[in-house]
Amino acid sequence: MKKIIAIALAALMLMSLFTGCVKEEPAGSGENKFNLTTVKEGYLTVITSPDYAPYEFYSLDADGNPTLAGFDMALAKYIADYLGLTLEVVPMDFNGIITEMAAGTADLAMAGLSPDPDREDSMDFSDMYYGGKQAFITTKANASKFTDLASTNSAEFQIAAQTGTIQNDLAAEYSPNATIINLVKATDIVAELVNGKVDGAYIEWDVAVAYQANYPELEIVCEVPYDDEGNIIGVKKGNEDLLKYVNEALNKCIDDGTFTTYVDEAVALAAGDKYEGLLGEDGKPQE
Ligand code: ARG
Repeated sequence: MKKIIAIALAALMLMSLFTGCVKEEPAGSGENKFNLTTVKEGYLTVITSPDYAPYEFYSLDADGNPTLAGFDMALAKYIADYLGLTLEVVPMDFNGIITEMAAGTADLAMAGLSPDPDREDSMDFSDMYYGGKQAFITTKANASKFTDLASTNSAEFQIAAQTGTIQNDLAAEYSPNATIINLVKATDIVAELVNGKVDGAYIEWDVAVAYQANYPELEIVCEVPYDDEGNIIGVKKGNEDLLKYVNEALNKCIDDGTFTTYVDEAVALAAGDKYEGLLGEDGKPQE
């Protein structure tokens, strides 16, 4: 009898251990106010590339624990609440974002996306929500090599841009004679610049400014003209209702001043401890 009780107890303990381990997914808790069809019922699935402060990045607490932050992420939460959907954010490298949107696996892409007409086949565009401009950056040590944008166009330079971004197109347009280096993460661009592996890079202006807070050796050389200035949210192609209500939420957030507070908060957080990139399997920043 004692043995049976012991076995039963052991089994019970094992079971409780298991339920402790299995992460139960909360059901889409929202009321789905507009009866929207989404890739996962009751959820708003948002893909992002968190290597881009102040747009999206990980803010670190005193113990180094990461929390997804940035004004795109605050806006994602605002939109999910407005729609009455549970927010689910899926981080990935930027070049995965266009592929996933083309495959229709996410509802929204929020990643400091520029309204590049080439992307219109893979996603619908929301209204514009931020006036991001483009920059050419280098290090203080290399700054004398670049006087203006035209001076970047020389075979002696290695110039970086993030894979899959419009900055790649800008590099090809303004520095065709240079060797263009594609790097998967914005963080890699900064690392290569600081290590002297590349001479310059194309990047969003505000992101360059945010990186300067951590790497004062960076220098912005000049603004780079770009026709489709500003940012949009990528919306799952053909989901017209979602597009309509995302725009409604977005414009409300801008008009009532909330979005400005998100930007201010994100800029302040980005000046503190942060991590830009994907977390490891252990949920921790990777070296
Ligand atoms: N605005 C640029 C583009 O759409 C770059 C965006 C990169 N975003 C990021 N989260 N790394 O191509």
